[in-house]
Amino acid sequence: MPLENTYSEEKDVARSTQGDSFIIKGLSGEHTLEGDISVSGAKNDILKIMAGVLLFEDAVHIENVPDVLDVVALSAILEEIGMSVENIENGIVLKAPKQAHTVLPKDGAKKLRASVVLTGPLLSRYGSVSFPHPGGCVIGARPIDIFIHSFELMGGTYTQDDTHYTLSAPNGLHGADIFFPLASVTATETLMMAAVLARGTTIIRNAAMEPEIQNLAQYLIACGANIQGVGTPTITIVGGELLHAREKTYTVIPDRIEAGSFAILGALSGKQVHITNCNPLHIRSLLDIFDRAGVAYEQDETSLTLREPREPYRSISVRTHEYPGFSTDLQAPLTIFLTQVQGESLVFETLFEGRLRYTDDIVRMGADITMFDPHRVLVRGPKKLIGKDLEAPDLRAGLAYIIAGVIAQGTSTVRAARYIDRGYSHIEKRLQKIGVDIVRA
Ligand code: EPZ
Repeated sequence: MPLENTYSEEKDVARSTQGDSFIIKGLSGEHTLEGDISVSGAKNDILKIMAGVLLFEDAVHIENVPDVLDVVALSAILEEIGMSVENIENGIVLKAPKQAHTVLPKDGAKKLRASVVLTGPLLSRYGSVSFPHPGGCVIGARPIDIFIHSFELMGGTYTQDDTHYTLSAPNGLHGADIFFPLASVTATETLMMAAVLARGTTIIRNAAMEPEIQNLAQYLIACGANIQGVGTPTITIVGGELLHAREKTYTVIPDRIEAGSFAILGALSGKQVHITNCNPLHIRSLLDIFDRAGVAYEQDETSLTLREPREPYRSISVRTHEYPGFSTDLQAPLTIFLTQVQGESLVFETLFEGRLRYTDDIVRMGADITMFDPHRVLVRGPKKLIGKDLEAPDLRAGLAYIIAGVIAQGTSTVRAARYIDRGYSHIEKRLQKIGVDIVRA
C-alpha cells in the first residue's frame, strides 16, 4: 500500500491549512478525461472494524486504510476510551484495553455516525456504554431507536439524561430474537458485534446485507466468531469468548461509492476512464442503470472502463434501496448524471428525508429539477450547467458538486471541502490524474 494511504493528525492539520475549498474549471460537456483512477479503501468498512477491535483479546492489523478524516476522528475517540492506535507503514494496528473508559466523548462522537457502532462491542465486553446522539452527515433525522430496542431485548437497561444515553449490562448481554423494522446498516453491524460476546444465540431478522457488513463478518468468523447467514436478511450469531486475530490482517474493501461516483464522472466526461482497484459486482445496481440509460462500459473483476458515448443517454427513473439495490450514497452523483440525459427522470430517495436538498444548488447551476416532496424530484434533461460558488452540504453531495463542476461551463468553487475529506482520500490529486482541472484553495 502506498504511504499516502496512511493517515495522521498532522496530515489532517496540513490538509485543512491547504484550504477548505476546491476550484474546478469545467469542461462544458466535453469528453476529455483520460487515464487510470484508483479507488481507495471504503470508509464505511474500516470504521466498523475499528470498533470491532473491541471484541479482540489481541491486536488487529488493518490494511488498505483510506486517508480520510473520519478515520482520524474515530481514532481519536478510540484513544480516548483507552485503545492503542499505531500507524505503521502499510496500515494501522489497534489493540483494545483490558478496561475501557465507556463514556464516549461528546465532541468526538457527535462528529460521526459510525461512533454508534462502538456501543455494541463496548456494552457487550465492558458491561456499559454512555454516548451522545451520534452525529454524521445531516441528511435526515437518523434516529437510534432500533439500537436501543435491540439492546433491551438482549438484557441491557437504558437511561437517558440531557447529554447522554446510557446502556448497562453488568452481567453481560444474552441472545435474543430481534426483528429490525428497517434494514439499518449500522444497527446490523452493532448488534451483530454485541451478539458475538453475548450468552447464547441471537437472530437478527431483516438485517442489512451491504458488502461492508459481509467483509466485517467474514473477518470476525475467521478470528473465532460463530456467525451465519451474513449477506442474507437473517443473521444468526452464537455468542462466545473474545476473538483472536493471531496476526490475520483485515483488508478494507474498495469503496463502492467512490467507484460508482468515478464511473458516473467517466460516463459524463470520459474519453476513456479506467477505474482500478474496485469491485464492479458491488455496484451492480448502478451498472444496471447504465445499461438502461445507454452508458457503455467494460468491466473485469477489479476494474471498470468508461468511454465517450456514441449516442445521447436515455432518461431513467431510480429509487434508492438497501443493498443490493441502488445506494442512497450514489443518489446525488446519479442525479447530476440525469441532468445531462434526454428526457424526464424521477429520483425517489426512500431512505433519508434530507437527502435531496442539494438539488437547489444544481438548479442554480442551470438544471431543470422539480421537487415534489422531500423524497422525490423530477429531472428534465439535458441542460447545460454553469459554474457557481457552492458549499458542500455533506460528503456524498459534496462529491456530486465536484462532478457538476467538471461538466459545467466556467469555474465552480466547492466550499467546505472538509466534508468531502471525511470520506474521500485526496480527491483532487486523484481527479487531476485523469485530467480534471481542480485545485484545493
Ligand atoms: C449507513 O448509515 C452509512 N453510514 C450511510 O453512509 C448510508 O447512507 C446508510 O447506511 C444507508 O446505506 C455508515 O455506514 C457509517 P441506516 P446508517 O441505519 O447505518 C432508519 C455516508 O455518506 N433508522 O442503514 O446510519 C434511518 O433513519 C453515510 O457514508 C431508524 O429509523 O443508515 C434510515 O431511514 C451517510 N432507526 C434507515 O433506517 C434507527 O435506529 C436506514 O438507515 C436506525 C436507522
